[in-house]
Parts: sequence; C-alpha cells; structure tokens
Amino acid sequence: MPKSSQIKKLQKELELEVSDLPLAKSASDIVHGEGSVDSEIVLIGEAPGYHESVQRRPFVGRSGQLLRKTLIAVGLQPETVWISNIVKVRPPENRDPTPDEILAFRPYLDKEIEIISPKIIVTLGRFSMGKFLKDVRISQVHGRLHKIKWQRKILFILPMYHPAAALRSTKMKQSFLADFEKIKKILKWIDSQEESIQLESNIADTLL
Ligand code: URA
Repeated sequence: MPKSSQIKKLQKELELEVSDLPLAKSASDIVHGEGSVDSEIVLIGEAPGYHESVQRRPFVGRSGQLLRKTLIAVGLQPETVWISNIVKVRPPENRDPTPDEILAFRPYLDKEIEIISPKIIVTLGRFSMGKFLKDVRISQVHGRLHKIKWQRKILFILPMYHPAAALRSTKMKQSFLADFEKIKKILKWIDSQEESIQLESNIADTLL
C-alpha cells in the first residue's frame, strides 16, 4: 500500500478510536501530522495549541510560523517535510502533556514514524526529545546529531529547541536558526554513511 494510503488509514483509525483517548471529545479535536509522506525529515513537536486546534493543522500559530519561516530560511519548504506532534489533541490551557497522554498517543506516532521511515527525526522541545533520548538536557544537546537504536532500528535524532522557546529572545532565535542550518549537511553525511555501509557490504559480497 502506498505511504499516503497507509497514513490516511492510520489517521482514520485514530479518529475511530477517539473515545478511548484522553483530551479529545470528538474526532474533530484531533490534529494530524501533515506534509510529504515521502520526506526524509520528520519534525515532532509537543501538542497542538489554540490555532492548531481551530485550523486542525500542526504548527500554524505563532511558534509554527517561526518554525515554517526557519525551514524556508534553510532551504526546506514546509510542505516537503513531515510535521507532527507527540500528542494530537490540544491540552487545556496549553498545559504540558502528561505522561499518560503521551503514552496514549504513542502507538499512532510510532506507526507514523514507521510508515514515513525518515532519514532523520528532528525533535522540537524536551517532550519529543524525551521520546528518544533519556537523561539529557536540551541546552546541552540541541543541534547535535544522535544515532540511536529504537525498536530494533537505527534512527538519527536531531534535538532542537521548541520554536516557542526560540521566540523568547533574539539569542535563542539565532541559536534555533543555526541548528536548522545544519540539517541539509547532516542529511548528506547520513547518505555518505549509508553509501559506505553499502560499499562494505558489496565488498563482502564480492569476497564471499
Ligand atoms: N506547539 C507544538 O508543539 N505543536 C504544535 O502543533 C503547535 C505548537
């Protein structure tokens, strides 16, 4: 089944299971991920805010505008990447999502990642970073590539500050942009790694 059909099926499933989920009263409260299912990059935020909930699109409010502007500034059109959240319904008063809420939405996000199967996951803020990287501080690891084993697969994780944090000061905004400027270079590096792994296995094949 094409990736786009798999994603549509997953989103439908989530809507049908809405009564078992925290925060949501109806399927129309759900804010699905959006963008290109063929993207090499998946960006994961925290949870929808007011504007996201009204428009039913991730990252369209103030911090979303900064995120989208920053993507464009580094040569990435927002519609060519995949943008999603760990929790797909707005928590009241935009409070932090609870561990139970994160857990409840986890199967959908995991499936989303499995379907899209990106080269790199950019986490936005400490909640989505915490899904993959344990016992680290965002102030120490932002903008640094991490190679991890996750569900028996190798994943590349690039933790970033949340754009809402970047909105707090010019210095934070500059740091946010500087981290995003690394994405294309990192993707090239990952490709070169994959080529050398490929090369090694070709050599092994010829030797055998
Ligand atoms: N903040 C998030 O983490 N996600 C959104 O979709 C919007 C704001």
